Amino acid sequence: MKLAISGKGGVGKTTLSALLAQAYADLGRDVLAVDADPSPCLAGALGFPEDKLEKLEPIAEMDQLIEERTGAKPGTSGGFFTLNPRVDDIPERFSVTHRGVRLLESGSVDFGGSGCICPEGAMLKTLFTHLLFRKDDVLILDMYAGVEHLGRATVDFVDAMIIVVEPTRRSLGTAKQIKKLAQDIGLDRLWLVGNKVRNEDESDFLNAESPGIPVLGFLPADLGVQEADRLGIPVYDHVPSLKDSAEKMAEILVSEIGDKA
Ligand SMILES: Nc1ncnc2c1ncn2[C@@H]1O[C@H](COP(=O)(O)OP(=O)(O)O)[C@@H](O)[C@H]1O
Ligand SMILES: [Mg+2]
Repeated sequence: MKLAISGKGGVGKTTLSALLAQAYADLGRDVLAVDADPSPCLAGALGFPEDKLEKLEPIAEMDQLIEERTGAKPGTSGGFFTLNPRVDDIPERFSVTHRGVRLLESGSVDFGGSGCICPEGAMLKTLFTHLLFRKDDVLILDMYAGVEHLGRATVDFVDAMIIVVEPTRRSLGTAKQIKKLAQDIGLDRLWLVGNKVRNEDESDFLNAESPGIPVLGFLPADLGVQEADRLGIPVYDHVPSLKDSAEKMAEILVSEIGDKA
């Protein structure tokens, strides 16, 4: 199951990514969490300790390695490069695992925005394939805010996308844009998650105003989320209401796409 989490900046993509990743790991699945934000913070949300993170280097910045393995300089396209570079030694060097979640910081890699895949895209795709070879494995891709980077090749990486919104028209506007782009590239398995929902009026609002995207569930607004951040512990451990909601979503996703992915 390969899930991308997208949405407007600050809506809660990283919070949801961390919750889902930990929920699946606790169900005994192998989870690969990919932080595609150029200023990564998924590691913190998952409670990775400093000593593990010190070993981590972002894949997309490994220019020399990418050139060596693909035969082309990162940032180029149109030339010849291998689409299946050697990656078997990469996981141990560029990812770290904590509580059953393997974390990889891809940085702002180009997921194929122009329609043809770039060397770093080829590298990542091969790496994902290498890491996710069992039927039960789960990929959670915490995407960079906005829509520009949602290129054609995204469908090669994920088979469903969750769009996070707040109970605001603005975040729904972004969701609508993302939906259009997703449809353009043939990604039609979409879900909406309403975050920071304070009451029934707000969940009703999101249900009514969803741009035709089925609602997977809601996460309550909870000051415990900020508190968890201050204390440096995962929301998953600190805020039971969010953990419970995320676990329900994880279950629904498995029954909806788990077998078909
Ligand atoms: N359910 C929630 N209740 C309260 N605050 C939240 C909730 N979800 C996220 N936040 C806060 O919103 C901010 C953005 O969350 P984050 O997950 O980093 O969003 P994104 O990854 O989309 O930019 C953070 O400060 C976080 O603490
Ligand atoms: Mg984020």
